[in-house]
Order: sequence, then C-alpha cells, then structure tokens
Amino acid sequence: MSMRHIYSVFMVKAISISAMLLVAIPTFAIRITHGPYICDMDSTSTTIVWFTDKPGLSWVELAEAGGPDHFYGKERNKYFATRRGRKLAADTLHRVRINGLRPDCLYRYRIFTKEMKQWRWNNNITYGDIASSTVYKREPYTFKTYPAGVRDVSFLVLNDIHERATDLKKMCKDIDFSKLDFVLLNGDMSNYVGTSAQIFKGYIDTLVSMCVKYIPVFMCRGNHETRGAFADKLWDFFPTANGEFYRVQHVAGIDFLIIDSGEDKPDNDIEYGEISNFDAYREEQARWLAQLKKDGRIGKYPVVVFCHIPPLLQNWHGCYHLNNTILPELNRMNVSLMLSGHLHRNDYQAPGETMNFPCLVNSNMSYLLCYTKNGRLEVERSEENGKNKKHFIFELKH
Ligand SMILES: [Fe+2]
Repeated sequence: MSMRHIYSVFMVKAISISAMLLVAIPTFAIRITHGPYICDMDSTSTTIVWFTDKPGLSWVELAEAGGPDHFYGKERNKYFATRRGRKLAADTLHRVRINGLRPDCLYRYRIFTKEMKQWRWNNNITYGDIASSTVYKREPYTFKTYPAGVRDVSFLVLNDIHERATDLKKMCKDIDFSKLDFVLLNGDMSNYVGTSAQIFKGYIDTLVSMCVKYIPVFMCRGNHETRGAFADKLWDFFPTANGEFYRVQHVAGIDFLIIDSGEDKPDNDIEYGEISNFDAYREEQARWLAQLKKDGRIGKYPVVVFCHIPPLLQNWHGCYHLNNTILPELNRMNVSLMLSGHLHRNDYQAPGETMNFPCLVNSNMSYLLCYTKNGRLEVERSEENGKNKKHFIFELKH
C-alpha cells in the first residue's frame, strides 16, 4: 500500500469522524422560549419580560408607531436589561425597564438577546447568535401607554386558575382583548411555585398567546403563590417599580390597590414548613397603607382594591389577621370596591361594620370583565361560553 493510499484512507476516516461528531454534537442557535409580556406599565414607563434557552445580553428596540423613528428607519431606540450600571448578560430571564415614554402613545417594539457563549476573566465575553422576535414575527409587537389624565378604564380579572391552562384558554376565547387596559391575576394561578416551567405551562404561555404581549399583566399574589421552592423567584416574573407585590397601580384616573393577603392559616401551621411569616408581612402592609394615606398618595382618585383572600371569613387566621391589620386602613380610604377570589365560588360581601365597602368574590370557573362608565364601575361576571352571566354596578367614590 502506497503512502498516498494510506493518506487517502486516513483523510476519509478523519472526515467521516468529523461529520459524525457534527451530527452527534449539534449546536443550536439561541431561542426565545417564553414571552414577551408587559408588566408594571403606567403613563410613562413599562417593563418587558421574556426568556431564552441560553443566557445573553438583552435589549428592546422601541419606536412610536407611525413616528419618524419607525422600524423601517435606520435608528431605533435601544433599551437594555441593566442593574446598577451593568447590562445583564448571564441570565435566561430578561427584564427590560423602559422609562421616559410619552403618555397615551402607541409604541412598536421588538426584543433581542445576544447569546453569551463564554465569560472568562473580567468582562471578557464571547458572544454568539442573536435571538429576536423578528424571527418569529416580522411585524413588531405594540403597546399603548396609559394617558396622564382621566378616561374610562377596562380590565379583565382572573383568579384561582390553579394551572388549568386549557380551562383558562377556553374561558377567555370570546374576550376582545383589544378593548382592555390590563389583565389582573387575582391569585392562585399556580397550585404551588416549584419551577419556572410550572409558571409557564400553568398560565404565562397561555396569557402570552392571548394578550399580554400587547397589554400589561399585573399580579396580585394568592396564598398558593407563596408556596414552593421557586416561590421567591415569582417577583422576577412580575417585576414592580417598588420591588413589592403590594403596591398602587394607577390607571387613567383610578388607583388600584394591590394587597398581598398572604397565607390563610397561622404562620406556624405544619403545612408551611417553618417558613411562613405573614403576620409580620400583613402588619408591614398596614403601615404602608397608613403612610400612603398620611402622605396624600391615595385619596385623590377612586380606589379599587385587589386582595386574593376576601376579608369576612372569621374562622380562618389569615382573614382574622387581615381584618385586624389591613382592613382598618382600607376602611379609612373611601374604597369603592374590593375584588377577591380564594373561595372557588361566587360570593358577595356587603359593606357593614367590619368592612365599609363591598367585596365581590370571583369563582375559579368565571372571569370578571370590568369597565368604568359614567363614574361607575361595571362588572360582568361570566363563565365559559357566556354561561351564568351576571352584571354588577358599583359607584366610584371620590
Ligand atoms: Fe387561595
């Protein structure tokens, strides 16, 4: 056998092995796996959240719809995921806060993540491919900031879905989301928060497919969201400007107060594995409410409250404690209505001595379509296919 023949056989084998290795160890381009969705929006800012299968450097490209800086022009405003002076590049969760927007303005946006392939010393980073929403959708997504002034508001309330994503989709199939200002999740969307996959599969992916790429989703945590090894990461999925689940969300002339009612049983219940501290947490919220009132940050506009656990259930510690901490503060705020869940049945708690405002409790099989009209808040409760529809009207107190 000549040297030339040996060399040829060697080369053929080498090429074959290389080809096999290429087949055996394919390299996949970075992908957007979940989202985007919009959180924590007001008249001048918003947050856009999405996830990729590999870590990377992320940004949003944004332009006013129809303006000179539109997506077919050369320059687009870029907003990065940053924290304390650094752009983030080592995570698969991407959260871009955008400030300085114009009120009542329609924006077009696209999301981008450049893969971080290797991070050696200092900030010596090797980047890879870019994943972008343009791969999946040529046209940009849109959202509209809230107006700075007062106008009618409409929103959807969902609660106690407990990861029944199929039911969620069926229940919402007739809703015209283009008419809504936001979707409010009023607790217990999960059974417990064990993994990120549970959140995606349980409800986020369904909501993204329906509406929350275009209108914000606001989270009011339920007691089941306080359970599980991943529960402390939930805020990262629903970031808020004040860093808390409890907060004031102002939308076009209404102050929505989002209360985090915590667990329903005593903190030392065996079910809570020694980690519940909700008495102190509810007291913290009572102090926050008192301060809001003292500072005049609430009271200028009608107040609508979201609170997963309704107050008037005296046999449960969570309610008993809520009635003695948070409720007295709410009673001083001229609240127009509280919307709750938790019971898995429809209920209505009338104003009385303990609670001086009405509380409407939505079941786990219905949704609430709410809209303001002529100074009143109208609520239409409906099950799938418009079954058992019921209409409520509440005065918006000034
Ligand atoms: Fe609950």
